[in-house]
Amino acid sequence: MTDLQGKVAVVTGGAGGIGQAMGRRFGREGMRVVLADVLAEPLDRATRALSDEGIEAVGVITDVTDYASVESLAKEALTRFGAVDVLCNNAGTGGVSEGYMWEHDLADWRWGIDVNVMGVIHGIKAFVPILLEQGEGNVINTCSGNGGFAPIARGAMGGPATAVYPMTKAAVLCLTESLYTHLEMTGTRVRAHVLFPGGFLNTGIWESWRHRPERYAASQERRTPAHTLADVVARFEAAGARVEFTPLESVAEQVVDGIRADRFWMMGPPTPADGVVSRKAASILARGAPDYLVDVLGRSAEREPESEGESR
Ligand SMILES: NC(=O)c1ccc[n+]([C@@H]2O[C@H](COP(=O)([O-])OP(=O)(O)OC[C@H]3O[C@@H](n4cnc5c(N)ncnc54)[C@H](O)[C@@H]3O)[C@@H](O)[C@H]2O)c1
Repeated sequence: MTDLQGKVAVVTGGAGGIGQAMGRRFGREGMRVVLADVLAEPLDRATRALSDEGIEAVGVITDVTDYASVESLAKEALTRFGAVDVLCNNAGTGGVSEGYMWEHDLADWRWGIDVNVMGVIHGIKAFVPILLEQGEGNVINTCSGNGGFAPIARGAMGGPATAVYPMTKAAVLCLTESLYTHLEMTGTRVRAHVLFPGGFLNTGIWESWRHRPERYAASQERRTPAHTLADVVARFEAAGARVEFTPLESVAEQVVDGIRADRFWMMGPPTPADGVVSRKAASILARGAPDYLVDVLGRSAEREPESEGESR
């Protein structure tokens, strides 16, 4: 699809961060936009911000963990705009767990899987039949290099990072590969894409714990405090890393370019971090140890254990 003018985009997790940036960019391309999110007030603010720019936008409160809620999002989008051309399965929750993975709270696993994996499955089930009926469209699933390529198993200080988040993003990549093939088998012009937002992004994902739903309440007492983005930045800087946020507009740019170029892998320009992909392929082919695993700063050196909860 090259002409986006007048088309309709639905973006889950649209109340902020990458989702809102995609919605804004779609709107600037002349698209009509449905922002969907579980957080009512941020969703209202995000939708108003787009409308104030002259973008035709509507906000629909949606919980992607609940299939009925995603089905009514689809109905609402059709009622409002008469079509859905682009679906971004983007809602996500970050890593809140601490310690080694066998110590992670089962509630953390359930929350992460329900939002990051079932949320994408619900989006595919509710929307793909609509796109197929129309004969054209794009499904963009937000993945992450953390899991999509390999888990960041160690945090900045060398301790264990969450195992929940990367596992869910590995599933998102796999789901999108299956979706690509299944769509191709039908001969449709509906396309599947996987988005890898790159760089260090200033979004709510670092502090997902602030909006933890009651039904996924922690069942274990925390031993360490939950991290803020400011904590993460301070740790990066203490470890000698230069912290510079990548503008969210560049992620939205990747998406619009990727739709126009019909690109499955929606990624930025090659970076040294891509080395994980080739090292992983080499390790598999050599039947070797997983020596491609790195910490959140891209380093592979051994460090003393200390509990951490990086996500991304
Ligand atoms: N920020 C990064 O560095 C980064 C990197 C790679 C991938 N991602 C992915 O990008 C996506 C967007 O995250 P972000 O970084 O903009 O963070 P964010 O926290 O700003 O946005 C995520 C949005 O999803 C919403 N959400 C959470 N649970 C939901 C539910 N049950 N139903 C509907 N909406 C729900 C949140 O309310 C929030 O508005 C996520 O899938 C995330 O995993 C982020």
